[in-house]
Amino acid sequence: MVDEKAIQIAQEKYGELLRQQLKRVEELKKEGDWTDYSKLDKLVIGVCGGDGIGPYICASAQKVMEFLLAEKIKAGKVEIKQIEGLTIEKRVEVMKAIPDDTLLELKKCHVILKGPTTTPKKGDPWPNIESANVAMRKQLDLFANVRPVSVPELGINWTFYRENTEGSYAVGSNGINVTDDLAIDFCVATTQGTERIIRAGFEYAKKTGENYVSLVTKANIIKTTDGKFLSIAEEVAKDYPEVRWDDWFIDIATAKLIDPARRSSFRVFVLPNLYGDIITDEAAQIQGGVGTAGSANLGKRYAMFEAIHGSAPRMVTEGRAQYADPCSMIKAVAMMMNHIGETEKGKKLDMALDVCVQFEKKLVMTGRDTGATGDEFAQYVMDTIKRSDLENVWQSYVDKAKVSVKQ
Ligand code: IPM
Ligand code: MG
Repeated sequence: MVDEKAIQIAQEKYGELLRQQLKRVEELKKEGDWTDYSKLDKLVIGVCGGDGIGPYICASAQKVMEFLLAEKIKAGKVEIKQIEGLTIEKRVEVMKAIPDDTLLELKKCHVILKGPTTTPKKGDPWPNIESANVAMRKQLDLFANVRPVSVPELGINWTFYRENTEGSYAVGSNGINVTDDLAIDFCVATTQGTERIIRAGFEYAKKTGENYVSLVTKANIIKTTDGKFLSIAEEVAKDYPEVRWDDWFIDIATAKLIDPARRSSFRVFVLPNLYGDIITDEAAQIQGGVGTAGSANLGKRYAMFEAIHGSAPRMVTEGRAQYADPCSMIKAVAMMMNHIGETEKGKKLDMALDVCVQFEKKLVMTGRDTGATGDEFAQYVMDTIKRSDLENVWQSYVDKAKVSVKQ
């Protein structure tokens, strides 16, 4: 016996989701252009620590950020704003992914440095509220999740452009339990949302001269939304004749990242939300672990920079939070520098991170008291930035590593 009543209730809920998404499409049609940071009198940077190890690693990364921007902060050209309220306790207290007053503060900033936030799932001690990350990406319309991964000695230099507001995440907290036996989730692709992420990836490939984009979907199976992603890519690509492009299915793309014969040829990946989430953890692992990778969440109006990993609450309960690795947050600071036009500072910080984490390793992070604290490591990175021979030191390490890989 088909439960007609259950179907009707589900249809009403589904109708509501469609209404919300169509409203979103109307908003997207009105979208403005990218913020020009060079035209601002003052750049406002919000810092919110998040929870778990978040406040610890965020504070270490903030020190590096303030060190790099010291002159501009002093001159009043950059203002740093501390933003409270993004903890799981506070979010649960008000039963919102982001408390209203916190969201208001976030919207007063141009760019944000954000520590990891706990994302509850069914069975956790917390109510199953929506992820603060996902909510922030949606609320601030941070549609491009940009994640670079580089291992110079292996010739790996990848940049992932992950769609960040649609796909399986768009209504991820609003799937429908039609009956006790039937649960349905949804995957969303809009023309506007798909086109802008693909364009962003192609623009990047063109601007950097990498000139190669790999588009990743599962369009042979997920025919409607992934099919749309692929067909829009075919159109957008026509505007970039200088950029070579190909398309891959997510399963084989995942395999090829660990194929030494293939992987060094990839440059820019563009992909829907969930595939991007999964494959960027794999890519980060190839670079040395998720603790080494930063993540930029870019929208035309706002931008947010964060680690790619979670809040590791266990490290806090075990009293080890000060030993949590801040490198992915520091990497996020480098990405922020590039985004706000401080490319020289971004480049230096990237080099210093390579030297400290991959090559020189005067201090190492072990996650416990056998290694350095996050603050000590941040200081090590700042001392390395100050070295006048930084560029030469970095280059000679990279050359040496290349030789040892060949042998
Ligand atoms: C990421 C994380 C988030 C995601 C979580 C914490 C919501 O895994 O940024 O990749 O799934 O996007
Ligand atoms: Mg992830």
